[in-house]
Amino acid sequence: MSFHIVEQAPARLNRSELAVPGSNPTFLEKAAKSNADVVFLDLEDAVAPDDKAPARKNIVAALNDLDWSGKTVSMRINGLDTHYMYRDLVEVLEGAPGKLDMIMIPKVGTASDVYAVDMMVTQIEDATKAAKRIGFELIIETALGMQNLAEIAAASKRNESLHFGVADYAASTKARTTVIGGPNRDYAVLTDPDDAGNRDVHWGDMWHYPIAKMVVVARANGLRPIDGPFGDFSDPDGYRAQAMRASTLGCEGKWAIHPSQIELANELFSPSEKEVTQAQRILDAMEQAQKEGKGAVSLDGRLIDIASIRQAKVLVEKAAQIKGAS
Ligand code: GLV
Ligand code: MG
Repeated sequence: MSFHIVEQAPARLNRSELAVPGSNPTFLEKAAKSNADVVFLDLEDAVAPDDKAPARKNIVAALNDLDWSGKTVSMRINGLDTHYMYRDLVEVLEGAPGKLDMIMIPKVGTASDVYAVDMMVTQIEDATKAAKRIGFELIIETALGMQNLAEIAAASKRNESLHFGVADYAASTKARTTVIGGPNRDYAVLTDPDDAGNRDVHWGDMWHYPIAKMVVVARANGLRPIDGPFGDFSDPDGYRAQAMRASTLGCEGKWAIHPSQIELANELFSPSEKEVTQAQRILDAMEQAQKEGKGAVSLDGRLIDIASIRQAKVLVEKAAQIKGAS
């Protein structure tokens, strides 16, 4: 290990992250009763300009009056380039002090964006003597944010997670997309002909680079990497595939832009019983090996070593975290 110790963000389950517009009180009530690990109350893109002020009031009421126990509650503020953002923070943090767990900052472009919000939140928390210290979720959804990712991730002690906002990212990079967060058949290669002259089209994942980069930077800074939206909520198989590839790369969860996506995310980002049992077997085998003074052994015909212990521990700890929350 490096001499540099990576401090980890507070441990929270973040398998599913439900987006709910602050402009709709009925949806807010449903969100509080849902099985989402995290709910973010939206003041940004799901709320029209004329609805911003009433949406803040709905959110204050929802935070004060609804029962959010068992889940993490966040609020997505408007971008720093708007005149809505300061009122989002002031009205909601003063109207419901100590109620929010996290604030989601959209379209973060530079480390100073995070610094600015940190300064405002710190002032309001001090003034309201809020008992809880709010964490930050940062949406990386512009070319600028992706370029400055490392500085952004290290910009505040409040930072907890990085999110890939694929819809705005596509707009910012001028990528050609079809469905939000889905694949595009044009991102493909044509194989060389085989002996019979046949050629195949191999699709690639056009989001591989940004997600992989986000995972690396998040983990290097002790933050949770979270995959963003999948727009076609009538396509659970499409959601499953996109979630599974994000999970395979190391993401801890994915947004649910519709309640039907919550259970899918909870399932796909939980280790299966088979995986947990296998991880426990690895830990047991390594414990035995260490007693015998060995650094590596074989289990089921495969080499396992100290690195296998680390991977197995991550899995077993995650399973315990999920069990503890249910
Ligand atoms: C989320 O905000 C996105 O733009 O995908
Ligand atoms: Mg966005």
